[in-house]
Amino acid sequence: MSRPRLPRTLRVRLTAGLVVLLALACAAVGVGTVLALEGFLIERLDQQLVQSGGRFPASLEHEGRPDDDNRPDTRGQADGTLGARLLDGHTTDAAVVHRDTDRRLTLTNDDAHDLAGVPVDGRGHDIHITGLGTYRVVAVRGDDGDVLITGLPLHPIEETVHRLEAVETLVFGAALLVTGAAAAYWVRLSLRPLDRVVDTATRVAELPLAGGEVAMPEPLPDTDPHTEVGRVGAALNRMLGHIGDALTRRQAVEERLRNFAADAGHELRTPVATLRGHAELALRHPGPIPPEIRHALERMQSESLRMSTLVEDLLLLARLDAGRPLVHEPVDLTRLVLDATGDARASGPDHRWILDLPEEPITVTGDEHRLHQVVANLLANARTHTPPGTDVTVRLESGAAHVVFTVTDNGPGVPEPIRRDVFDRFVRADTGRSRTAGNTGLGLAIVKAVVTAHHGTVTLTQHPDHTEFRVELPR
Ligand SMILES: Nc1ncnc2c1ncn2[C@@H]1O[C@H](COP(=O)(O)OP(=O)(O)O)[C@@H](O)[C@H]1O
Ligand SMILES: [Mg+2]
Repeated sequence: MSRPRLPRTLRVRLTAGLVVLLALACAAVGVGTVLALEGFLIERLDQQLVQSGGRFPASLEHEGRPDDDNRPDTRGQADGTLGARLLDGHTTDAAVVHRDTDRRLTLTNDDAHDLAGVPVDGRGHDIHITGLGTYRVVAVRGDDGDVLITGLPLHPIEETVHRLEAVETLVFGAALLVTGAAAAYWVRLSLRPLDRVVDTATRVAELPLAGGEVAMPEPLPDTDPHTEVGRVGAALNRMLGHIGDALTRRQAVEERLRNFAADAGHELRTPVATLRGHAELALRHPGPIPPEIRHALERMQSESLRMSTLVEDLLLLARLDAGRPLVHEPVDLTRLVLDATGDARASGPDHRWILDLPEEPITVTGDEHRLHQVVANLLANARTHTPPGTDVTVRLESGAAHVVFTVTDNGPGVPEPIRRDVFDRFVRADTGRSRTAGNTGLGLAIVKAVVTAHHGTVTLTQHPDHTEFRVELPR
């Protein structure tokens, strides 16, 4: 069952609730006053009828004998007074006062029947007389066993009551309109500070708190502790303060970490280079070198080479983290991809390298050296993390706003456990292969950092039969 949708805002609900309550109160007051007034007027009418004590209907018997001393006084009866005299349930006389004289009534059968049915109890009853309308009548027993009915028209009372109803409807309607408008305005005014709270809370909710520089929104001005909205505002301000503190601390820690990585890298560079130089020097010794010593020296040489790559990668990441400006120059991506694939083909002749380049050369603005590193790292991964004979497709396309570079291979794929964090530092599959290949787990972290510094994105999509790394750079 579908219900009509009501507006859900607090504003609308408060205003509507107020108006409905007021309408109910008005209706109660209206019904109450109308009933009370009607009851009071009828009671007074009944008193009047009882007091008249059947004098007017009794007088009807003596009609036409004005000299009769027994004839009761008919004057002084109100205009419209009805009198009827009944003998054995039959109406003998019936008249109505009109401008101080009696006017004989010809009753219909129904009227006569109704009159005969009035209980003789000296209390008021309603009956309808044809041509005259509704009457309030009182029946009393006369001296000679007859029944004397006196009645007064109800329509003046009905008119008064209708008048009151009309006036109340008008007044209450106007009051509802004015109150509704005032309530809507007042509710809006009272809830206005809540809008600012909502605004600020929404902005905080959208802040990228996990990383980078974050600009906190201004604290809220409405913090009156006597109002609910003020308390919410104060709580939100306290929360803003805590978040701000936490952010400052996080940024300080990150800064320190970056500095440490950069310092350590710088400090390591020279000793590692020295180590490698000495190993090379020792290997070039003219005299005979025992095989174990040669092996040890060669291991020293290759490991120090690996270590200097690691140090260079760490330094590069530290520089990118610090947000150092990159070189901004036109880079011929087509050329770059072509060269890098040539290098990869030379290093991995057992893989099938498939190039898919567009006709026109594609250029982007950026740092050629770093972009070369991106392409080289992705190609190196496609070579070192797949078995020989794997097809690697290198594709460059240019879209409307982006240049898209993809490296796809049909190798075994990125292992499931590291797929989510594969672009994080030191994340690598813990296989014997990658250890011996001298992998550090920094390659994709560098790819991500460089691409992000170029305002681009890099994604990994793992299909059942192929792995796709996709880099998008703005044109
Ligand atoms: N083309 C690929 N196929 C399968 N696994 C991959 C591929 N590229 C990356 N990986 C996985 O992602 C890990 C992280 O890569 P990377 O950051 O370049 O580090 P490294 O190559 O030094 O191990 C790799 O160790 C490897 O397990
Ligand atoms: Mg790698």
